[in-house]
Order: sequence, then structure tokens, then C-alpha cells
Amino acid sequence: MARRALVSGGAGFIGSNLVKFLLAHGVSVCNVDALTYAANLDSLADLGAGDYTFVLADIRDRDAMRELLEQFDPDLVFHLAAESHVDRSIEGPAVFVTTNVLGTFTLLDVARELWTANGRAVDSRRFVHVSTDEVYGSLGDDGLFTETTRYDPSSPYAASKAGADHLAHAYFRTYGLPVIVTNCSNNYGPRQFPEKLIPLMITRALSGEPMPVYGAGNNVRDWLYVDDHCEALWAAAERGTPGRDYNIGGNQERRNIDVVRAICAEVERARPARTNEALAGKQYEELITFVDDRPGHDFRYAIDASRIARELSWEPSETFESGLEKTVRWYLENARWVERATSGEYRDWIDKNYAERLEARDAR
Ligand code: NAD
Ligand code: TYD
Repeated sequence: MARRALVSGGAGFIGSNLVKFLLAHGVSVCNVDALTYAANLDSLADLGAGDYTFVLADIRDRDAMRELLEQFDPDLVFHLAAESHVDRSIEGPAVFVTTNVLGTFTLLDVARELWTANGRAVDSRRFVHVSTDEVYGSLGDDGLFTETTRYDPSSPYAASKAGADHLAHAYFRTYGLPVIVTNCSNNYGPRQFPEKLIPLMITRALSGEPMPVYGAGNNVRDWLYVDDHCEALWAAAERGTPGRDYNIGGNQERRNIDVVRAICAEVERARPARTNEALAGKQYEELITFVDDRPGHDFRYAIDASRIARELSWEPSETFESGLEKTVRWYLENARWVERATSGEYRDWIDKNYAERLEARDAR
């Protein structure tokens, strides 16, 4: 029988890629999304054939979530809806708590109500709670996050995701809800909103605008191409053990400054600066501008993904270089998507963030 998946946050970056992935695997998909600033229906414009429905609703709305779970009756829930940008969480943390903690609670609790009988989960349903490696806090030069690393979140975003993860764990232990928690490293790829490092740098390079690197650019992230994340979530849903956590990573650690330089080189290959009028004779690397650092900036994230490799036979298929090439090409070929995503409210936020950081740097 065809699987039925409810995807929350399916109009966002990872969600829209996951919706496509699931439809390509013959899964019936219902996407529930509140369409916040981070959502983009353009990302779902070319879904092709497949059994797909979209429901505009907020995961904090219990009645709406109950009606949805009752009517669509999914056997898989992939819960991705969240506020996801660290810098925004520093400026306005309240919505991170309500969406990420209370929204997750609402979905878990409605699933408990509908899926469990006599206190135990009754069948092969799965609730995959999609989380981040940021819940573990920061690493020094050495070491990796494992599934047993102590939670130690730094930003309001990370803390709100940690709170949601704790609820997800509790719903397995207390009620037997078949929850699987995944903690993944930084994703990149097509359809990512250009407020995050990689799409921000690609779009700013192409438009000849300053490329703001926080601090000295020495912070390290592990990068995973989004399709590899979708494969991992599918593996977790299909073959994962309820109550078990899985760390997901690309084994591709890079310093931010090296990421930005790699982007300049890749953009140069795809669209040489001399052919790009917006550069006005400059080289892409000349756009790199060091600005004031992020408060509480985690130094390094790195994942030990050996459990998911061993138990679920998942491994990433892209290197950072192959994934970046695909990503730069996608942004070049989808100028209309970029144009629509980077107008309006986006402009105000990005311009303000950049101007404030530049000012703070100069005041030091
Ligand atoms: P995103 O910001 O691109 O998309 C989030 C989506 O959730 C948007 O479509 C938005 O409209 C929706 N949403 C927000 N609040 C909602 C609400 N109250 N009700 C319903 N929908 C709501 O995020 P993303 O980068 O695609 O991340 C998806 C998930 O994966 C998040 O839970 C995030 O914490 C997690 N994650 C992201 C990364 C990453 O690098 N992007 C890495 C690891 C884990
Ligand atoms: P980001 O994409 O916001 O992801 P996260 O904070 O969840 O890891 O940022 C990735 C890294 O890039 C992080 O160390 C902050 C840095 N960064 C910049 O240097 N400049 C920027 O404009 C942005 C958005 C991020």
C-alpha cells in the first residue's frame, strides 16, 4: 500500500526538497505550512505527477492539527516546520519558543491522542522529528558530536530545538509514541532562502554586493547536500528504530572563510567576473567583507554519523565540491526564484543586518 506522509514545513528549504523526494518515491504527501517569511511556494511549482496536497495551517493550532491528522491519517510524519535562522533568533527569540517548542508539542500531543491506544503506540507509524546538531553546542578544535553528547545549546534557536527534542524523547518514553529524532549538520543546496551562509554568498556574489563574513571567518561547520539529508530522513523513517536518535552529517568540515572562497571560485567558473556587469571590473573575492561577529557564535560543529551508517546503511553521496557545483548552477539557472525570494521584507532584514554589523565592527 502507498505510504502517506505528512510533511510540516514543506514550503521551506529542506521541506520542499523532501516533498519532491517523497513524491518521486511514490509516497502520498500532505504538506502543512503556515507560509512564514521563510516559505516559498515557487519552490513547489514543479512537483509534476504524484499525490500531493497543501494545507495552510500553523502547527501551534491544535484544532487544525487534530483535524489534519485525523483526515489525512498519515503513517509517516516528517516534522520540519520551525523558525530556523540563528541571527533572527538572537533578535526576536519569542517566535522560536512558540513555534519550535509549543508547535512541536502540539504535533506530538495530537499524534499521541490519535495514534496510541491504552498508552502504547499501536502500529508501524513513525514520527520523524527533524532537528539540528546545534543542540550540542560548540566543539573545540577536536572531537565529534555523537548521539550521546550532552545537550548544551548556545543560541535561542538551538535552545528551542533542544526543548523540542526533549519533548520528542519524552513522548517515546512516556507514551510509546514511535518517535525518531534526527540531528543534522548544516544543509545547503537548491531552494535555500538566501539568509543562510551559502545561498547568501552565492546571490551576493552574482549581484556584486558585499559578502559579509562574521568575525575572522574561522568558525567551522560540517556541510551536507540537502538531497543526502532527504535520503537520511527516508532511511530513518523506513528502517530506523523508534526511540532512537540518529546524527546525520556530511563529513565535510570547512572554515567559513574557505566556504566563501570556494563559492567565489565556483561562481567564477560558472559566470566569470569579467562577464558579470554587476562586478564593475572587480573580482568576486574583492566582495568579501569581514563584519562584526555573531554573539555566542559556536566555534565548530562536526558530526559522528557512524550510527546511521552502520544501522541504516546511509552515507552521503555528495562531497562539498560536487554539491557546491550543483548548488551554484541551480541559483544561476533560477534567477526568477532568486529575484522573488530576495525582494520585499528580505531586503530590509539583510540590509539592516549588514549595516549594523559593519557599524559595530568599525566602532571597535
Ligand atoms: P526553513 O526556515 O527554510 O523552513 C521552515 C518552514 O517552516 C517554512 O516553510 C515556514 O513557513 C514553516 N513554518 C515556520 N513556522 C511555522 C508554523 N508555526 N506552522 C507551520 N509552518 C511553519 O527551514 P529549513 O532550513 O528547511 O529547516 C527545516 C527543519 O530542519 C527545521 O526544523 C530545522 O531546525 C531543521 N534543520 C535545518 C538545517 C539546515 O541547515 N537548514 C540543519 C539541520 C536541521
Ligand atoms: P548559517 O548559515 O546562519 O547557519 P548556522 O548559524 O545555523 O550554522 O551560518 C553558517 C556560518 O556562517 C556561521 O558560522 C555564521 C556564518 N555566517 C557568516 O559569516 N556570514 C553570514 O552572513 C551568515 C548568514 C553566516
